[in-house]
Parts: sequence; structure tokens; C-alpha cells
Amino acid sequence: MATNIILLGPPGAGKGTQARRLIEERGLVQLSTGDMLREARSSGTEMGQLVAKVMDRGELVTDEIVIGLIREKLDQGGNGFIFDGFPRTLAQADALEGLMKDEGQQIDAVVEMRVDDTALVSRISGRFTCGNCGEVYHDVTKPTKAEGVCDVCGSTDLRRRADDNAESLKTRLMEYYKKTSPLIGYYYAKGNLHPVDGLAEIDQVASAVSAVLNGTGSKT
Ligand code: AP5
Repeated sequence: MATNIILLGPPGAGKGTQARRLIEERGLVQLSTGDMLREARSSGTEMGQLVAKVMDRGELVTDEIVIGLIREKLDQGGNGFIFDGFPRTLAQADALEGLMKDEGQQIDAVVEMRVDDTALVSRISGRFTCGNCGEVYHDVTKPTKAEGVCDVCGSTDLRRRADDNAESLKTRLMEYYKKTSPLIGYYYAKGNLHPVDGLAEIDQVASAVSAVLNGTGSKT
């Protein structure tokens, strides 16, 4: 039986970091709308150029575009999906429910990653990723073992994101509180919201997420 999980949290909460652990440990498929949109922008298509401007400002891309991206990927299931950065609006949450129903599937758990705003600023400003394998690092909390070289794949293509700057982060946070945080109440009402302390160390957060998936975690 497939396990489908949503990682819900503000920018920098650690969704991508935990998604990579779940891929490794449970063979789940990560569906990150952020990664899909970054792929679209680097393709240079008209849609990609439009998306790039919106992302750089820190605003949300239209529901229509992101729902379309998710719809295209839902046949790649396997052991289940990790929805990372999706849904981000109530319209996206409703659309996801419909899409899952069509596939004869359901969302098993929504993990709400709780992190305070001060921590988010330092997480975002210290983040860099491997352009080859996507491993996520941080200048202070998770540096590479050898400077400038990815621990996982050995690539030296380490990058910082264009939207990881103070101005765009302010907008991203505002978008989160205005449009995404209502999903906390939405999933609470549905009975599958599981809060996790996202301020804990990466391994401890992973254990808490694991406990949720094993049915022994906290629930609101
Ligand atoms: P997206 O790529 O989804 O970015 P985000 O939600 O802003 O989230 P981040 O990737 O910034 O953070 P994260 O929670 O994954 O944290 P990470 O693990 O990297 O979206 C980008 C843009 O695309 C949006 O602004 C929007 O324009 C558009 N978009 C995407 N989806 C959309 C949608 N559904 N609808 C509309 N528009 C959409 O960790 C951050 C840092 O902290 C790292 O350096 C990491 O090493 C470190 N860290 C992680 N965990 C810990 C820990 N426990 N302790 C200490 N450090 C930690």
C-alpha cells in the first residue's frame, strides 16, 4: 500500500531536506513544485520565463500551472509520494484531493514543520545546493565535508538560489502566512495534521517524521 505524505511549512522549514531522507529511507517519490518550476525556468520556454519572474519576486505561481505540473507526475507512484511545497493554497489542496481520488489514492499524513521566522532567515541565507544531485547544505548547520565539493556526488557545482535574498524572503513569508497557512486549519479539520518541531536537529526531525509515518507520531 502506497504512503502519500504532504510536507507543509514556510520557506526554509526543512521540507526539501526531509524529503531527501524519505526518498532514501522509504523509496518515496518526491514531487517538489519548486524543483519542477526551477526546471521549467531553466528550459527557457515562454512559460519558464513567466515563472522565473514570479519566483524571483517570491510570489506564488498560479494554481493552474502548479496543479498541471502535479497532474503530469501522478502516474510515477511506486511506494508513494512526498508532496513538497504543494499544496500551497486552498484551491491546490482541493485539486490534490480530487486528483488523488481519481488515482484511487489518498493523503495519509500532513506533516506541519514548525519553525520560527528568525530561524528561517538564517536558514535561507546560509543555504546552498548541489546543482548535480540536489543535496541541500547550509554554511553553518550542514557544510560540505570538503570545501566546494558535494559530499554525495563529488560535484563542484554548488549553487545559491536567486530567490534566497532578504527582499524575496519577506514576500515568500508573507505569501506563506496569507495563502498557505490556512491549510493548517484545513488539514486539522480533516484529521490528518501532524505537527513536528522543525527547529530540532535534522536527524531528530527525521525521526519525528518517521514516527508520523509509522503511526506513532504526534497528532493535533
Ligand atoms: P520552493 O522551492 O518550494 O521553496 P520554499 O517553500 O520557499 O521552500 P524552500 O525550498 O526554500 O525550503 P525548504 O523547506 O525545502 O527548506 P530546506 O530543506 O531547503 O518554492 C520556491 C518558489 O516556487 C515559491 O516562492 C513560488 O514562487 C514557487 N512555488 C513552488 N511551489 C508552488 C506552489 N505549490 N504554488 C505556487 N507557487 C509555487 O532547508 C533550508 C536550509 O535549512 C538548508 O540550508 C538546510 O540545510 C537547513 N536545514 C534544514 N533543516 C534543518 C534543521 N532541522 N536544522 C538546521 N538546519 C536545517
